[in-house]
Amino acid sequence: MEQFLIEGGVRLEGEIPVSGAKNSALPAMAACLLTREAVLLHRIPQVRDICTMARLLEHIGAGVEFREDGTLRVEAHQVAVPEAPYELVKTMRASSLVLGPLLARAGRARVSLPGGCAIGARPINLHLEAMERLGARIRQEHGYIIAEAPEGLRGTLITFDRITVTGTEDVLMAAVLAEGETLLENAAREPEVADLAELLVKMGARIEGAGTSTIRVRGVSRLHGAEHTIIPDRIEAGTFLIAGAITAGDLLVTGCRPDHLTALVSKLIQAGAEITEAGPGALRVRRPGGLLAADVTTEEYPGFATDLQAQYMALATQAEGVSLITETIFENRFMHALELMRMGADIRIEGRRAIVTGPRELTGAAVIASDLRASASLVLAGLVARGETVVDRVYHIDRGYERIEEKLSRVGARIRRIAA
Ligand code: EPU
Repeated sequence: MEQFLIEGGVRLEGEIPVSGAKNSALPAMAACLLTREAVLLHRIPQVRDICTMARLLEHIGAGVEFREDGTLRVEAHQVAVPEAPYELVKTMRASSLVLGPLLARAGRARVSLPGGCAIGARPINLHLEAMERLGARIRQEHGYIIAEAPEGLRGTLITFDRITVTGTEDVLMAAVLAEGETLLENAAREPEVADLAELLVKMGARIEGAGTSTIRVRGVSRLHGAEHTIIPDRIEAGTFLIAGAITAGDLLVTGCRPDHLTALVSKLIQAGAEITEAGPGALRVRRPGGLLAADVTTEEYPGFATDLQAQYMALATQAEGVSLITETIFENRFMHALELMRMGADIRIEGRRAIVTGPRELTGAAVIASDLRASASLVLAGLVARGETVVDRVYHIDRGYERIEEKLSRVGARIRRIAA
């Protein structure tokens, strides 16, 4: 198992590029199942979850080819095995994104139930209820969901009880080939949903309102091949902005979408960072003085992203005063707090709230990453800790960050990947 060895105390300076968004690339890859023609996706990040999705598409029967320039070509000429097996779903819950496309294209799907997760229960009941509304028959057998729609899906009104990102994406992919019109209400407004809709429209789908909470889909009988560039990863970009602020550095985060980062940017400015637009798709982060406490509550987009909560908590340990961090999206997303406390942070957890008192000097320690964003938080803490931090189980971070240690090294961080 690999670890990161981090020597803290270095200000990060220079330019750091942002990769394509993992959470946009995953549904885009699933969408390739909707047509027998080839789809070209540019700016695919080289991260582990993408490899898992590629294996899943291959298992289903698609041809998948990665090119050196970050382009992925998927050709699902036929859907031989409309199934997401347990071995793949258990390593990546987003595998359930193939449910909608398989039902729409093949009229049936067999998708393993995901099981437990480090950040909360994360059921897929809302995906299933929506598929039933579209006319699918659903049953559960041996840990698998069996969904069938032999006569095809029919458009209808779907109102989500709560906002779900992959649920919205899954249903969108089912509805594009359904007969008639589907109206999706209380849909997720995340940029990744809008990006998926853009790809689907290029493939011939008729969709209006993606990026808002009401999406209208008019079903078409077939989709065709297309070419699409994935949006920049706003969570990776946000992690780098926090890295610049926490190390009092001077970082230019390039190839990002500042309009996707407004909640984080305003919070970082409130906390004492200086963030300016530095040309198209570039944000410069500096820190003229000390950090100040600022409360954060996670929300669906355009609110403060839950996927940046752990990283923000690392920053809050260095801020003067008490920061109240409230997690509203997942019920168990504070595992990083315990590890940060082992490094010297003053954090009290009360249900869905973390009360962080700072600033506290962090000292390097051996810590264990529990999930993707928690590991990013520990890396950030390691960058400001005195002495050496060893982050274990870095396979979590490799799921969603493209060679993060190389990117951080290039802007001055002392971070190395070592074999444990
Ligand atoms: N939920 C249900 N039933 C469902 C679906 C969701 O109760 O059928 C609940 C969840 O348990 C959670 C809330 O609704 O409490 C929101 O979950 P959502 O469905 O929006 O999450 P997701 O689609 O499974 C995506 C991202 C996550 C990100 C969340 C929230 C992808 C592949 N994953 O997950 O990203 O945290 O939205 O923004 O897009 C990550 O990248 O580290 C990551 C976990």
